[in-house]
Amino acid sequence: MTPSLTNPLLSLTQLDRRAPARTQEPFPVTGALRDRFGRVMNDLRLSITDKCNFRCTYCLSPGATFLPTSDRLTTQELVRLGHLFARLGVQRLRLTGGEPTLHPELTTILSELSPLFDDVSMTTNGSLLTDKNARAWKAAGLHRITISIDSVDPVRFRTITRSKVDSAVVIDGVRAAIGAGLHPVKVNAVLLAGVNEADAPALAALARELEIEVRFIEFMPLDQDGGWSDRAVVQSKSTLQRISDVFTLVLEGRDRPDRTAVRYRFLDGAGGSVSTIAPVSEPFCGECSRIRVTTDGYVRPCLLARDEWPLLPLLRSNASDRDLELAIREAVWNKDQGGALTMGPIGGRTMSAIGG
Ligand code: 5AD
Ligand code: SF4
Repeated sequence: MTPSLTNPLLSLTQLDRRAPARTQEPFPVTGALRDRFGRVMNDLRLSITDKCNFRCTYCLSPGATFLPTSDRLTTQELVRLGHLFARLGVQRLRLTGGEPTLHPELTTILSELSPLFDDVSMTTNGSLLTDKNARAWKAAGLHRITISIDSVDPVRFRTITRSKVDSAVVIDGVRAAIGAGLHPVKVNAVLLAGVNEADAPALAALARELEIEVRFIEFMPLDQDGGWSDRAVVQSKSTLQRISDVFTLVLEGRDRPDRTAVRYRFLDGAGGSVSTIAPVSEPFCGECSRIRVTTDGYVRPCLLARDEWPLLPLLRSNASDRDLELAIREAVWNKDQGGALTMGPIGGRTMSAIGG
């Protein structure tokens, strides 16, 4: 019997691992990291731990369990993979988790990898984002940071994150990041129907006050509780409507074609901006340049397709860099075309295990 994918006590190692879909076509063994659809991978999301101190309702179950240390990429393995991807032409690195700031060797990872990439960013829940940490990460080579805040209201913040952390602590963390020069500082918010959708204007007000970008991401079917349904999703157009009731917005568009966020400025000239990221209502796979590596060493070419390609057996069996490179090239070549989100749980892993 296939184990239930929503069982909170199910270890990732027990997941039903289907072999990834392989095309018969040969894949290119030199040149840029390219897929079958001509897309070039330029953006690596490296998940450095699946552990998290929050249990956001749209991500983890209250009883979530994490990988044994031996199944997680070691710092040395993370650094080796970072070097390989940089050599394959990837210019942008994002450290993710789980919660990447829980990694005991975060500054080592940053200082080893930051010289290799043009852009080095990190996604965090902000619970450990003190002035001291922000400065230390900046000194280790972090360029910029994205912090998740789903509500400025302390009660709703705790309800969604299922943590004891106060939203004010995380908002102070945003200020610490700005102070440390982790520019541009961005905030991610996931709105859930009937929970925090009315918080959109208050989050837009935060963008104005701190002169930062607040990005509203549609809820994707990657939650461990299996609570996703299309009724739970707050579509971007509804978010924009709620914000527009309070602040007049002016469309700016995407920063680059492969960017997922569509940005709006405030007509009254206030600083900051809001963006919408709409993987559910308007999938944006055509220009995708992203490639992910999970904490346990799988290449995940597409966030919303289950296929994963293992690197750990190669890393732990004296494989050469060339062997690893070919495994990465094959995974990328077979990246799903995307284009339409399957309207139902994708199964397999949560965002915390894939890396956001
Ligand atoms: N749908 C949309 N966004 C999600 N995130 C985590 N899980 C989901 C989901 N199911 C977001 C987090 C974080 C980013 C990495 O991904 O809020 O900001
Ligand atoms: Fe942790 Fe991020 Fe998942 Fe929330 S969304 S539980 S902070 S990994």
